[in-house]
Amino acid sequence: MKNKIITVSILILTTLSALTAIAHAEKSFAPNVNMKTGEIRVPNNYTQWATLGTWSHANTEGEPGAKEYHIVYTQPETIVYYREHGKYPDGAILVKELLSTKTMQMTTGLAVSHATKIKGWFVLVRDTQNRFKESNLWGDGWGWSLFNADDPVKTVSTDYKTDCIGCHLPARQMAHPDADESDKWTYSFGYLALQKK
Ligand code: HEC
Repeated sequence: MKNKIITVSILILTTLSALTAIAHAEKSFAPNVNMKTGEIRVPNNYTQWATLGTWSHANTEGEPGAKEYHIVYTQPETIVYYREHGKYPDGAILVKELLSTKTMQMTTGLAVSHATKIKGWFVLVRDTQNRFKESNLWGDGWGWSLFNADDPVKTVSTDYKTDCIGCHLPARQMAHPDADESDKWTYSFGYLALQKK
């Protein structure tokens, strides 16, 4: 009887720890990734994350001011990890939010621009394990997806090699020569938050 209780207890404990391990493994990767299909979505709460940096696109014709902003967000813990290790951790999510703008005269200046509306999102998810070998949205150390403003769940991109890589090639030349090979695909020189103080 006593043996039976011990056996059952061990079984329960083993199951529990296995379940916790699975839950942990999935949680520790990326909450915006469907682990079965590799589909990526815009993370729900990304506006509560930290801002890595902003790209301002100036009007090159007509009135002065910005015609678009690209604001890049990531999880706060990604910044902590990067500053300690000099690279992005597995599961790091970079969300680039595209914004329309309006420019006007304010007490701070003659042409002051502010964001008005979200136009869409580009999302990158760092994958150090090469998890989704079959998917055209994953490769070179990242998951790559583009979303229009009306649907943050379903990507409109189909193949990162044709939709993304060409435009991210220049980033490799601009990256620090010692940077992680996969991180060189990102324009991270623009993100002061990653630099050690
Ligand atoms: C027209 C060229 C172009 C295309 C196409 C493009 N990117 Fe980018 N991407 C850039 C540039 C340049 C930046 C940084 C400056 C900016 O946003 O203006 C950037 C920045 C990013 C960032 C912010 C992190 C970083 O790398 O600094 C993400 C996320 C991103 N791109 C994802 C994607 C994904 C995913 C795709 C494909 C679906 C894609 N991009 C396609 C040019 C491009």
